[in-house]
Amino acid sequence: MTHPSFRIVSRSLFRAFSRAFSWFAPALVAATLGLCALSAQAAGGGVPLDRFPTEKLKDLPSLQNGAKIFTNYCLNCHGMSLMRYNRMTDLGLTEAQIKDYLIPTGAKVGDTMKVSMSAKDAKEWFGAMPPDLSVTARSRASHDGSGADWLYSYLRGFYRDSSRATGWNNTVYPNVGMPHVLWELQGSRGASIEDVKAAADGKPGEHALSRTVTTIDALTGQRTEKVEAISDGHPHEGTSITLTPAVGGNMSQAQFDGQIADLVAFMTYVSDPSARTRTRLGTGVLLFLSLFVVLAWWLNREYWKDIK
Ligand code: HEC
Repeated sequence: MTHPSFRIVSRSLFRAFSRAFSWFAPALVAATLGLCALSAQAAGGGVPLDRFPTEKLKDLPSLQNGAKIFTNYCLNCHGMSLMRYNRMTDLGLTEAQIKDYLIPTGAKVGDTMKVSMSAKDAKEWFGAMPPDLSVTARSRASHDGSGADWLYSYLRGFYRDSSRATGWNNTVYPNVGMPHVLWELQGSRGASIEDVKAAADGKPGEHALSRTVTTIDALTGQRTEKVEAISDGHPHEGTSITLTPAVGGNMSQAQFDGQIADLVAFMTYVSDPSARTRTRLGTGVLLFLSLFVVLAWWLNREYWKDIK
């Protein structure tokens, strides 16, 4: 038996809690939704993301090729400090292969994938250290798509732009500080940027829009701007960007997309290296549990048969 005063206190405490919660829960939901909306806004340059072909994640040769591209083209500037070289035995590589093909001179097979450039040089050349890419495939996830979708779009979204210090710009990461390091493979692309906004000379009370079309040359990155008043259709304010086909690369667009898909598959693997093992193990565990349920049910029936 509990003391009556204890029951009264506990009941009023319970009421106070439930009242506080009935106020708190909607506030929490509203705050969460608000945060989601904010992060969605912050995520992209406003262009829709292309979908990363997820079947690449199960393909060992693709993952191995991605590791090779990363160490050849990205490791000069970006580290993956949460990844050790010898963990790549997960991808079906032997330690000897990792040593021969993937490790830069001087590094050991048990080292983490540290960047070869010093922070001081990076600051001088790029204004900042290029970020560590260990978990970018997760951190770039948003309402627009997975982190892999973002990477797949970003790495295929470079175009020439002579107004930038690097000579390059990007559709999903406008004014990015990274040059298009794979341009010899892809070639270079130009762009047509259409910007619709309220006309500067519009009369008050009149909702006049004007369209600025900026054409960027694929080879020189030279910008040509043309402003026109809009008289037709129902245009919406905003910016859209269309890239022209690549010129001068030594791969076709389809081949290049394939290489980038391999690279993104590798970066996705690094962001969660045990994902493959986990799903394989999960299937086994579920299979075992379903067999065990049958066994337990049968045993239960056998044991109780004579007692009941
Ligand atoms: C010459 C140095 C250099 C090389 C090589 C390089 N990058 Fe970068 N990268 C940068 C810099 C600098 C930034 C930061 C740009 C900024 O913040 O404006 C960057 C940013 C990025 C980002 C954006 C990260 C984020 O979440 O903000 C990704 C992803 C990326 N690089 C991937 C790659 C990949 C993949 C490769 C190899 C194909 C590569 N980079 C090669 C210099 C480099």
